[in-house]
Amino acid sequence: MTYTPSNNRYTDMVYNRCGVSGLKLPAISLGLWHNFGGVDHFETSRSIIWSAFDNGITHFDLANNYGPPPGSAEENFGKILKSDLANYRDELIISTKAGYNMWDGPYGEWGSRKYLTASLNQSLKRLGVDYVDIFYSHRYDPNTPLDETMGALDFAVRQGKALYVGISNYPAEATKIASEILRKLGTPCLIHQPRYSMLDRWVEKDLLDTLDREGIGCIAFSPLAQGLLTNRYLKGIPADSRASKPHGFLKKEQITPKTNEKIETLNRIATSRDQSLAQMAIAWLLKDKRVTSVLVGASSTNQLCDSLNSLQNISFTNDELKEIDSILNRE
Ligand SMILES: NC(=O)c1ccc[n+]([C@@H]2O[C@H](COP(=O)([O-])OP(=O)(O)OC[C@H]3O[C@@H](n4cnc5c(N)ncnc54)[C@H](OP(=O)(O)O)[C@@H]3O)[C@@H](O)[C@H]2O)c1
Repeated sequence: MTYTPSNNRYTDMVYNRCGVSGLKLPAISLGLWHNFGGVDHFETSRSIIWSAFDNGITHFDLANNYGPPPGSAEENFGKILKSDLANYRDELIISTKAGYNMWDGPYGEWGSRKYLTASLNQSLKRLGVDYVDIFYSHRYDPNTPLDETMGALDFAVRQGKALYVGISNYPAEATKIASEILRKLGTPCLIHQPRYSMLDRWVEKDLLDTLDREGIGCIAFSPLAQGLLTNRYLKGIPADSRASKPHGFLKKEQITPKTNEKIETLNRIATSRDQSLAQMAIAWLLKDKRVTSVLVGASSTNQLCDSLNSLQNISFTNDELKEIDSILNRE
């Protein structure tokens, strides 16, 4: 099948400036961690990408290790880019990362210049592109000087292999130091990618303030807590869900009666707002202006469209926020 993007693709999406940079990102971006690997159904993955682009999602997030097998999500996205989106490269923001285990030996993970540089070269080949828009250090490496890791990111930009750089999963203090180093190098840190959802609020302690002070954007990953903050698990564990898949990162043990009770109560608030729980969970993140984009995953176009509709209502009354807080704070 041939793909022609919708002419209306830019009518409904909201685009937010990423920190103090000139780059705008869609309020909802699509991540290819799950559902786009070699083990997944290629045509389904392809239809999700089409649906995303048709609805104004310009930003697709990858990493060297996404699959399984590792690397296959980049390969699949590369195929789709070539067959369907080749004429639209300048409308796309493609990101990739290096940090987790990718190949054998001492140079296949963490934050050395050797690993980051080699990994980006491999990613470009798999994706079939000359450059990525954002290249991330995927995790903070306590055993490599930050000067070296940030120097490797700066090197990627100077080589023309990345336009912007970002960091992911870095604690607040390391973020501040990394930002200072990058600014001195002349390649400011564009963006931080932390896990952030109603069920995981660690960024609220000091990371979001640090990002605000440093002028760095924030893209929240796993905003639906991998599917927990949706209607997916309200009536058991569906056979086609992430928690049922052997390679899924969501484990059945995480779906406890206590969590389910919280989810059911949150679901009732979502219903009273005329939203699905997924929509409310995304809106709840976007209410904070420090959050540039919410990075969702999806296993079907229906899920993605449901999530996109969150943009129709991202405001909350004080009473709703208080009620949500009291549910989330329950032991
Ligand atoms: N930087 C990092 O270290 C890091 C780590 C993790 C993720 N990420 C990034 O963040 C992206 C998103 O992560 P994630 O996939 O965990 O995000 P998520 O949005 O929290 O979870 C996505 C899953 O939730 C379910 N879902 C999505 N929309 C739904 C809807 N409207 N209704 C019902 N269920 C729905 C689907 O589960 P089923 O598959 O069960 O249908 C889907 O696979 C990744 O692809 C990746 O780009 C980054």
